[in-house]
This record gives sequence, structure tokens and C-alpha cells, in this order.
Amino acid sequence: MKVICTKDYQDMSRKAANIISAQVIMKPNAVLGLATGSTPLGIYDQLIDWYHKDDISFRYVTTVNLDEYRGLARTHEQSYWYFMHAHFFNHIDIDPSHVYLPNGNARDPEKECLAYDEIVRSLGGIDLQLLGIGLDGHIGFNEPGVAFELGTHLVDLDQSTIEANKRFFNDDASLVPKQAFTMGIRMIMQARKVVLVANGKAKAEILRKAFWGPVTPEVPASILQMHPDFTLIADKEALSLCPQCL
Ligand code: PGA
Repeated sequence: MKVICTKDYQDMSRKAANIISAQVIMKPNAVLGLATGSTPLGIYDQLIDWYHKDDISFRYVTTVNLDEYRGLARTHEQSYWYFMHAHFFNHIDIDPSHVYLPNGNARDPEKECLAYDEIVRSLGGIDLQLLGIGLDGHIGFNEPGVAFELGTHLVDLDQSTIEANKRFFNDDASLVPKQAFTMGIRMIMQARKVVLVANGKAKAEILRKAFWGPVTPEVPASILQMHPDFTLIADKEALSLCPQCL
């Protein structure tokens, strides 16, 4: 595990964008595993900026997102499909047919999960997986207690996740979907490179538990300690309870 301590959010975003950019320059048809949430927004802004400056092209890139709420149409403003297009895909030259997210409105969830795993397999796996981390240690929507060996699956969201995400739903927890599709830990661990970003004091305790504590399904992100090419990029505040800050 490599730890990169940054001075602030902007520095974190720029360093993570640099790693993604290097991946795409080295392999223009890279498969990027992408994440939603507020943390990666600065990364997407930076990549868009470099795209506009002609420093990077996503023409041959394929993306697979980690997760999607169940029951939200793609056009719903809070769907992750909408989020990714509004904050990233609509601003770069990615081929729309190279963009994958689980279909939150799939009639047969089990079939959707198998199909999503098959998509990633047929793409040859993920070259670089970008992750955020939830306050409960989730990655994607792999909540505490998740079996590490699961493929894409449907999850019941933890109450803490619903509370954390209600800010996007008029602060009304009852409007937050109760289930989501998520890529499983197994597939995340099979990514050739994993980068997790975190910022702010609120994440300090969970970073300490996840990356300086025991590997346990109770803290799903902790499994990343076992990944052969895992980089944690976090700002000083998020790393304030951690022993290692280079
Ligand atoms: P955040 O979400 O980036 O909005 O903090 C992270 C997550 O829940 O994975």
C-alpha cells in the first residue's frame, strides 16, 4: 500500500488525476473503474481541464462505474448515470457506447448483476479502479459485513449511508433509494491498480480503521491492504489519525 499525503483537496484531486492521466497516456484504450460521490469531483474537473487543453483524450477509453441506485431512471438527477454524465462524460470525448453503469431499473436484478460481471470480464478487467470511502468503510456500496468474494450484487443500504446521502435528496432520508447495485469486492480486488481518495477530518477515523487496522469485512475497504498495487491519496486532515504521512 502506498500512501500519498496531500496538503488539501485540490492537491489530492490533482495527484489522483495525474495517475489516471498517466494510465490513459500509457494505455489509450484503458478500462477505468469510476466512482461517484463528492470526493472524486475535483478529479473529474481536473481531467476535463486537461482534455480541453488537449493534454488527454478519452476517445478509446472504456469506463465501468462501481454502482447505481436501484429504481432510479437514468434521467433522474440523483442517478449515478446522470451524475457521471453531468460531471464528467458530457465534457470529454468518450464514446457513449464505452460507458457502463449497472442498470438501476433492471427488471431482473440477478440477471443484471451477472451481465455486469460479464461486461467487465469481456473488457479484460479493470486497469485502474478509482474509489472513495464511506464513513462506515464502504467502497462502492459494499457495506460492512459484505462477503469479499461476491460479484456484482444488490444491497440494502446501511442507515448511515442513507443519512449521508440524503443531502442529495432534499435532506429527506425517505427519498433515498433503499437498495443499490454494486460491483463486488472481488472485482475491485481484481483491478490491476486501485486508487482511493479521501479528504477532510470526517474521514480520519475510518481511514485509520481501514488501512491501519485489521482486514475485516466489517470495514470493507480494509481488504485493499492486500491489493498488490493500491494507492491511498488523502489530505492531511483525513490522514491526521494515521501513523504514516509522507
Ligand atoms: P463521498 O462519498 O465522496 O461523498 O464522501 C464516498 C462514498 O460514499 O463512497
